[in-house]
Amino acid sequence: MNSAVNLVSSDCENRDLRAEIAALQKEDPKLSQAEIVRQSGVGNTVMSQWINGHYPGNTMKVEAAIARWIDAYKVRKQESKAFPKAPEWVATPSAERIISALGYAQLAGDISVVYGGAGLGKTSAIKQYQRLSPNVWVATMSSCTASNATALEEVVDALDMDAAGGAAKLRRAIIKRITGSAGLLVIDEAQHLSINALEDIRSIHDKTGIGIALVGNEAVYSRMTGGNRAAYLDRLFSRIGKRVKLTRSTKADIDTLIKAWKIDFNDCRTALHEIASKPGALRGMTKVLRMASMFAAGEGRDINSADIKAAWRDLGGE
Ligand SMILES: Nc1ncnc2c1ncn2[C@@H]1O[C@H](COP(=O)(O)OP(=O)(O)OP(=O)(O)O)[C@@H](O)[C@H]1O
Ligand SMILES: [Mg+2]
Repeated sequence: MNSAVNLVSSDCENRDLRAEIAALQKEDPKLSQAEIVRQSGVGNTVMSQWINGHYPGNTMKVEAAIARWIDAYKVRKQESKAFPKAPEWVATPSAERIISALGYAQLAGDISVVYGGAGLGKTSAIKQYQRLSPNVWVATMSSCTASNATALEEVVDALDMDAAGGAAKLRRAIIKRITGSAGLLVIDEAQHLSINALEDIRSIHDKTGIGIALVGNEAVYSRMTGGNRAAYLDRLFSRIGKRVKLTRSTKADIDTLIKAWKIDFNDCRTALHEIASKPGALRGMTKVLRMASMFAAGEGRDINSADIKAAWRDLGGE
């Protein structure tokens, strides 16, 4: 880390920064000029002028900023190499349940609801399903999508459409786009949907017959079942075909994930089960395993349970 700071004041006069950039771009073809502009904070026009050797302003200042970015970029690259990647996808039993509910909704043109606590693997399973099946659109709600118009904007975005306007107009455009697609519209973080937005989603389903999956925390389901709101949502509730409730990460989920990390199962299992049974579940466990891998890699050996406990403490776990 310190190297990035030290190099801020690095001497850029003796460096061929254009050649350095070209070398980085050769190594990583995704590193476009636009990306460098974004990461470095040097403006687009200034960057273009400087690259072409026509910058009319204070070149030293620009070059200092570019040198600073190059050095920070290299440090980051180095660190991310040392920081192990978690297995992107592991077919845990809970994930299979989620995927089967998504598959059912798409195939039957029905509504599935998947709900449960944080870090149990809902979003990971959605992403995997999206990789496997055509016409799967995922709109992720948040506290910013509380109104039905903003929620529909999120759906428009997931569908990669250009539509604009109020809720009614967006709803019509969405219906037109997905009718006959045999697709699946997944609403992740669906607990943020307002009653009106839920009604809109229901009517989109009724008009098009495409599958819908509402995925989120317990509130997704309890709002449809409890309290005096239920009456509003009866119509939606009665349309739900499949429900998947996830209470906690199961022993089998945790074991499957541990095995995917290819670590000493017997030594690490107890500590990892303890971590994954806390709120944050598989997310907490994955973070700990990444950190523990770094500790172990630093000493050139495999992960053991002491690394796991140390990583858990280091990440502020209790
Ligand atoms: N099936 C899986 N394969 C690999 N990693 C997984 C799997 N499920 C969960 N994880 C790990 O756990 C993390 C949390 O999972 P995910 O984001 O899917 O949880 P979530 O249920 O959507 O949580 P939230 O309710 O907070 O959105 C993931 O980023 C990933 O590291
Ligand atoms: Mg999620």
